[in-house]
Amino acid sequence: MALIGWTPDLNVGVPEIDKDHAHFVDLVNRLASADDDAFPELFEESYQHLETHFAMEEGLMQKYGFFAYVPHKAEHERVLAQTRTIQTQIASGDVETGRRYIEETITAWFINHRNTMDAVTANFIQMARRNEAGAS
Ligand SMILES: [Fe+2]
Ligand SMILES: [Fe+2]
Repeated sequence: MALIGWTPDLNVGVPEIDKDHAHFVDLVNRLASADDDAFPELFEESYQHLETHFAMEEGLMQKYGFFAYVPHKAEHERVLAQTRTIQTQIASGDVETGRRYIEETITAWFINHRNTMDAVTANFIQMARRNEAGAS
Protein backbone atom coordinates (compact mmCIF):
# COMPACT_ATOMS: atom_id res chain seq x y z
CA MET A 1 0.00 0.00 0.00
CA ALA A 2 1.30 3.45 -0.91
CA LEU A 3 2.07 5.58 2.13
CA ILE A 4 1.90 8.84 0.20
CA GLY A 5 -0.04 9.41 -2.99
CA TRP A 6 1.80 11.82 -5.29
CA THR A 7 -0.51 14.59 -6.46
CA PRO A 8 0.30 17.90 -8.19
CA ASP A 9 -0.69 19.59 -4.90
CA LEU A 10 2.65 18.41 -3.53
CA ASN A 11 4.55 20.53 -6.06
CA VAL A 12 6.20 23.61 -4.60
CA GLY A 13 6.85 25.26 -7.97
CA VAL A 14 10.62 24.84 -8.28
CA PRO A 15 11.11 22.06 -10.86
CA GLU A 16 14.32 20.55 -9.48
CA ILE A 17 12.84 20.37 -5.95
CA ASP A 18 9.56 18.88 -7.21
CA LYS A 19 11.37 16.25 -9.28
CA ASP A 20 13.31 15.11 -6.18
CA HIS A 21 10.22 15.14 -3.96
CA ALA A 22 8.32 12.94 -6.42
CA HIS A 23 11.29 10.55 -6.44
CA PHE A 24 11.36 10.54 -2.63
CA VAL A 25 7.64 9.73 -2.43
CA ASP A 26 8.29 6.83 -4.81
CA LEU A 27 11.15 5.56 -2.60
CA VAL A 28 8.99 5.77 0.54
CA ASN A 29 6.19 3.85 -1.16
CA ARG A 30 8.62 1.22 -2.42
CA LEU A 31 10.01 0.86 1.13
CA ALA A 32 6.49 0.28 2.42
CA SER A 33 6.08 -2.75 0.18
CA ALA A 34 9.70 -4.02 0.26
CA ASP A 35 10.37 -7.38 1.88
CA ASP A 36 12.95 -7.73 4.65
CA ASP A 37 15.70 -8.66 2.17
CA ALA A 38 15.15 -5.65 -0.06
CA PHE A 39 14.44 -3.12 2.71
CA PRO A 40 18.00 -2.32 3.92
CA GLU A 41 19.39 -1.51 0.45
CA LEU A 42 16.38 0.61 -0.43
CA PHE A 43 16.71 2.43 2.89
CA GLU A 44 20.34 3.20 2.03
CA GLU A 45 19.25 4.49 -1.40
CA SER A 46 16.70 6.74 0.33
CA TYR A 47 19.34 8.08 2.70
CA GLN A 48 21.62 8.88 -0.26
CA HIS A 49 18.73 10.55 -2.03
CA LEU A 50 17.98 12.74 1.00
CA GLU A 51 21.63 13.73 1.31
CA THR A 52 21.82 14.75 -2.36
CA HIS A 53 18.45 16.48 -2.28
CA PHE A 54 19.25 18.48 0.84
CA ALA A 55 22.60 19.60 -0.65
CA MET A 56 20.76 20.74 -3.79
CA GLU A 57 18.19 22.74 -1.80
CA GLU A 58 20.96 24.28 0.30
CA GLY A 59 22.82 25.25 -2.89
CA LEU A 60 19.69 27.04 -4.19
CA MET A 61 19.19 28.78 -0.84
CA GLN A 62 22.76 30.07 -0.91
CA LYS A 63 22.60 31.09 -4.55
CA TYR A 64 19.52 33.24 -3.97
CA GLY A 65 20.41 34.41 -0.46
CA PHE A 66 17.45 32.79 1.31
CA PHE A 67 16.88 34.48 4.68
CA ALA A 68 16.22 31.26 6.65
CA TYR A 69 19.09 29.21 5.23
CA VAL A 70 20.52 28.40 8.67
CA PRO A 71 17.39 26.82 10.30
CA HIS A 72 16.44 25.02 7.05
CA LYS A 73 19.92 23.50 6.77
CA ALA A 74 19.89 22.62 10.50
CA GLU A 75 16.62 20.73 10.01
CA HIS A 76 18.14 18.81 7.08
CA GLU A 77 21.11 17.87 9.26
CA ARG A 78 18.84 16.75 12.09
CA VAL A 79 16.89 14.43 9.77
CA LEU A 80 20.05 13.02 8.18
CA ALA A 81 21.52 12.23 11.60
CA GLN A 82 18.26 10.61 12.75
CA THR A 83 18.04 8.57 9.53
CA ARG A 84 21.66 7.47 9.90
CA THR A 85 20.93 6.23 13.44
CA ILE A 86 17.96 4.18 12.18
CA GLN A 87 20.14 2.81 9.41
CA THR A 88 22.61 1.50 11.98
CA GLN A 89 19.75 -0.33 13.70
CA ILE A 90 18.61 -1.82 10.38
CA ALA A 91 22.17 -2.94 9.66
CA SER A 92 22.20 -4.81 12.96
CA GLY A 93 19.09 -6.72 11.86
CA ASP A 94 16.28 -4.55 13.24
CA VAL A 95 14.28 -3.99 10.05
CA GLU A 96 11.12 -3.46 12.09
CA THR A 97 12.47 -0.19 13.53
CA GLY A 98 13.22 0.94 9.99
CA ARG A 99 9.67 0.15 8.91
CA ARG A 100 8.18 2.08 11.83
CA TYR A 101 10.47 5.02 11.06
CA ILE A 102 9.27 5.15 7.45
CA GLU A 103 5.60 4.65 8.27
CA GLU A 104 5.26 6.79 11.39
CA THR A 105 8.03 9.36 11.26
CA ILE A 106 9.35 10.04 7.77
CA THR A 107 6.00 10.17 5.98
CA ALA A 108 4.62 12.81 8.37
CA TRP A 109 7.97 14.63 8.41
CA PHE A 110 8.07 14.87 4.62
CA ILE A 111 4.58 16.37 4.33
CA ASN A 112 5.27 18.80 7.17
CA HIS A 113 8.69 19.82 5.81
CA ARG A 114 7.27 20.26 2.31
CA ASN A 115 4.43 22.42 3.68
CA THR A 116 6.65 24.62 5.82
CA MET A 117 10.36 25.10 5.12
CA ASP A 118 10.37 23.83 1.52
CA ALA A 119 7.24 25.81 0.58
CA VAL A 120 8.63 29.07 1.98
CA THR A 121 12.02 28.42 0.36
CA ALA A 122 10.40 27.62 -2.99
CA ASN A 123 8.32 30.82 -2.92
CA PHE A 124 11.46 32.81 -2.28
CA ILE A 125 13.35 31.10 -5.11
CA GLN A 126 10.47 31.58 -7.54
CA MET A 127 10.36 35.28 -6.70
CA ALA A 128 14.14 35.60 -7.08
CA ARG A 129 13.98 33.85 -10.47
CA ARG A 130 11.17 36.08 -11.64
CA ASN A 131 13.21 39.13 -10.66
CA GLU A 132 16.22 37.69 -12.47
CA ALA A 133 14.17 37.09 -15.61
CA GLY A 134 12.65 40.59 -15.39
CA ALA A 135 16.01 42.25 -14.90
CA SER A 136 17.68 40.70 -17.96
FE1 LIG B 1 12.87 19.14 0.00
FE1 LIG C 1 14.19 21.07 2.73
